[in-house]
Amino acid sequence: MNKKGFIFDLDGVIVDTAKYHFLAWQQLAKSLDINFTEEENEQLKGVSRVRSLEKILAWGNKTISQDLFDKLMGDKNEEYLSYIAEMDESEILPDVPRVLKLLEALDQPISLGSASKNARTILERVNLKSSFNAIVDGNDVSKAKPDPEVFLIAADQINIKPEDCIVFEDSVAGVTAANTAHMISIGIGSKDVLGHANYVFNDFTEISDDFIKSLINN
Ligand code: BG6
Ligand code: MG
Repeated sequence: MNKKGFIFDLDGVIVDTAKYHFLAWQQLAKSLDINFTEEENEQLKGVSRVRSLEKILAWGNKTISQDLFDKLMGDKNEEYLSYIAEMDESEILPDVPRVLKLLEALDQPISLGSASKNARTILERVNLKSSFNAIVDGNDVSKAKPDPEVFLIAADQINIKPEDCIVFEDSVAGVTAANTAHMISIGIGSKDVLGHANYVFNDFTEISDDFIKSLINN
C-alpha cells in the first residue's frame, strides 16, 4: 500500500481548546481594561502566543513595556494550563479517534504540526500521545504559520515528501501553510473561512473511511 504522511493540527482539529484560550486571554484583557470579544478570539486561531498578545494590545490601543509583556505571557499561560489540567479523553473531537485508528491500521505515518507550546501536555491529558509517530509544536519552530516550517519539519520527521502529505487544519494561516508546503490541505470548519483548502469538512464525522483510503491511493 502507498504511504502518505498525515499531519494533524491540534487546537481546533483534535480538541477544542479555543474556549480555554478565550477564558485566559479574556482575564488578561480585563486586567488591562481591554474589552476582548469572542469574535476577536476567532481571529487568534492558529496565531502564536506572542502574536496573539500583540493583536489584543493593538485592538485595545495599549502600549506596554517588554517586561510587562513577558509577565502577561507567563500569566496567560498559567491560567490556560489550569484549564488544560482538567482535560481528559472526553474532550477529543468526534470521530478523531476513528480516523487515527484507521490510519494506524493502514500503516500510514502520523505527525502533529501545532503552533502550541503546550501540545505535548494536551496530548498527554487526552491520552493520544502514542497515536503520533512524530510531534512538532511551537517549541520546535522559529517561524509561525502561515510559514510552512512546522509542516515541513513534521513531514521530514516521518520521512515523507511534502507533496505526499495531507494536513488537517482549522485555521486560515494553517491552511495557507499547508498549501505553501505543497501538501494536500483539508480544512476542518466552515467553507466560508477555509475556502482556500483543497477539501473542507465541518468536522471528522463527515470524513469517511473511503475518503481517507482515496487520499492514500492517489
Ligand atoms: C494554536 C492556537 O494552536 O496555538 C492559538 O490556535 C494559540 O490560539 C497557539 O495561541 C499557541 O498556543 P500556546 O499553547 O503555545 O499558547
Ligand atoms: Mg488550530
